[in-house]
Amino acid sequence: MNREFQSDFLVIGGGIAGLMFAIRAAEFGTVTVLTKAASTEANTAYAQGGIASVWSVHDSFESHIEDTLRAGAGLCDRAAVESIVREGPDVVRELIRLGTRFSRIEHGGEDEFDLGREGGHSHRRVLHAQDLTGQEIMRALTEAASAIENIRTLENHVAVNLLTETATAGHPGACWGVYAYDRKSQTVKKILARATLLATGGAGKVYLYTTNPDIASGDGVAMAYRVGAPIANMEFYQFHPTCLFHPAAKSFLISEALRGEGAILRRPDGTPFMKDYHPDAELAPRDVVARAIDSEMKRHGLDCVLLDLSHRDADFIRRRFPNIYQRCLSFGFDLTKAPIPVVPAAHYMCGGVQTGLDGATPIPRLYAAGEVAMTGLHGANRLASNSLLEAAVMGRRAAVAAIEMIKSSGGAPPEFPEWDPGRAIRSEERVLITQSWDEIRRLMWNYVGIVRSDRRLERALRRIELLKEEIHSYYWYHTIDSDLIELRNLATVAELIIRSARSRKESRGLHYNIDHSKTGGDEWLHPTVLRRE
Ligand code: FAD
Ligand code: SIN
Repeated sequence: MNREFQSDFLVIGGGIAGLMFAIRAAEFGTVTVLTKAASTEANTAYAQGGIASVWSVHDSFESHIEDTLRAGAGLCDRAAVESIVREGPDVVRELIRLGTRFSRIEHGGEDEFDLGREGGHSHRRVLHAQDLTGQEIMRALTEAASAIENIRTLENHVAVNLLTETATAGHPGACWGVYAYDRKSQTVKKILARATLLATGGAGKVYLYTTNPDIASGDGVAMAYRVGAPIANMEFYQFHPTCLFHPAAKSFLISEALRGEGAILRRPDGTPFMKDYHPDAELAPRDVVARAIDSEMKRHGLDCVLLDLSHRDADFIRRRFPNIYQRCLSFGFDLTKAPIPVVPAAHYMCGGVQTGLDGATPIPRLYAAGEVAMTGLHGANRLASNSLLEAAVMGRRAAVAAIEMIKSSGGAPPEFPEWDPGRAIRSEERVLITQSWDEIRRLMWNYVGIVRSDRRLERALRRIELLKEEIHSYYWYHTIDSDLIELRNLATVAELIIRSARSRKESRGLHYNIDHSKTGGDEWLHPTVLRRE
């Protein structure tokens, strides 16, 4: 066995969840962190609004808990909400100790953290670093991790399949690492560990329009599903209401924090419309705002709606939102002078690999944290800025649980074979990959988007089953590369979203089906769980 690729802990993913795990786990043993591209490419690096945590003396845990439960539309796990929210201030202090510099403001002669407000929050409680919070957190965590000798990062290594022992008498086999495709050498390596964390983030790339970077192809969910882990609540895909509408802007996010600072959504004729949909208007929960925009666009045949912050002081806008201001300006829109065009796009996967509150999955030695996981915090709709909070808390907790597991069970990996490419040949026809990729993303956008119907979901399922069959046979006859790995995973994730959506015959939170437009009764108050037999 090649000892070069063996460590105590394997972390698949180098965003906030993976790095919080790695930094804690490294106090006990050696850690290998895999990132599928450059280590800077993670959803975390794109976060704008900030991290929600009770910080002000005017705020309370009870209020943050209530706001989270209300947004989650009856499907949150109260125990998860209570424990994660209560750990918020402590994990924020750890982020600060590790070097994160959150924005400060002078208030009543005191220098304090500048707390932002976002939809669904009844208080200002979002710590942020201007509008580049994710970049600042990534800078601090990667600097901290790279100073720790026990942590080694392998960039451009794409996890392909988890290495698990054979299940016995109904008990799932333990996970001992992963096969990973090295994009540079174009070879597949066997990477072993005594505990493995999935921290692979979301799956925005399953939709045609998304705020997510290209790494977000749901690899963790697909890998976990293949080894029999329970995957929950995949019907609840969150669409962010406001992305810049411009052909070259790649769904650039316009932070909800703008609405927190008074931005108004308007029709092209200038009339505001959010009061027609919810008493909290622009600060209603995200599912309500996204559906309202979708409805306005469909009703009036619009390409976009407008977001207007031009009534606020121009210096304030430039200081508070320097990145958004500059980016809009580069496309010819001046936030300080006129409304900007916006549309919704796929943003956040509320479902994922079901875990306990220690990050453990039912597969022995396999943990999951961050966007890839489903702890029960978000329920049917995530409250803004609760994701960085959950990822930081759960990454840290999973490390504690994995350390305890290794201390009590120890263990060395059994023999696993090297990757065998069989008789696979190099593909000469890339178009077979690009076509399937495009079809999946388009069908998900058109049939499984903000508004669904039984017919659209039925069509989507028929098409994805066919595509899966084609991708499956292509996969086994061709040598793998990162595009093919991602395509196979996207097809699995798409199927899981469709099947979950079809099974929920009601509308709740982010899942809206015009054929079952009412929220159902108590019989629907449970997560949707899919598990491969
Ligand atoms: P990520 O940060 O996405 O990291 C995933 C890691 O996994 C990456 O390193 C990637 O390379 C790696 N990876 C993936 N697949 C593989 C594979 N097969 N093999 C190896 N490595 C792999 N949330 C908030 O709370 N507040 C905000 O203000 C906020 N703003 C956002 C703005 C944008 C534009 C976006 C896209 C998201 C935002 N979110 C926000 C959501 C939040 O950023 C993410 O949910 C969170 O950062 C996820 O962290 P993570 O560690 O789980 O995953
Ligand atoms: C935003 O800044 O609007 C994104 C916040 C989030 O996704 O939580």
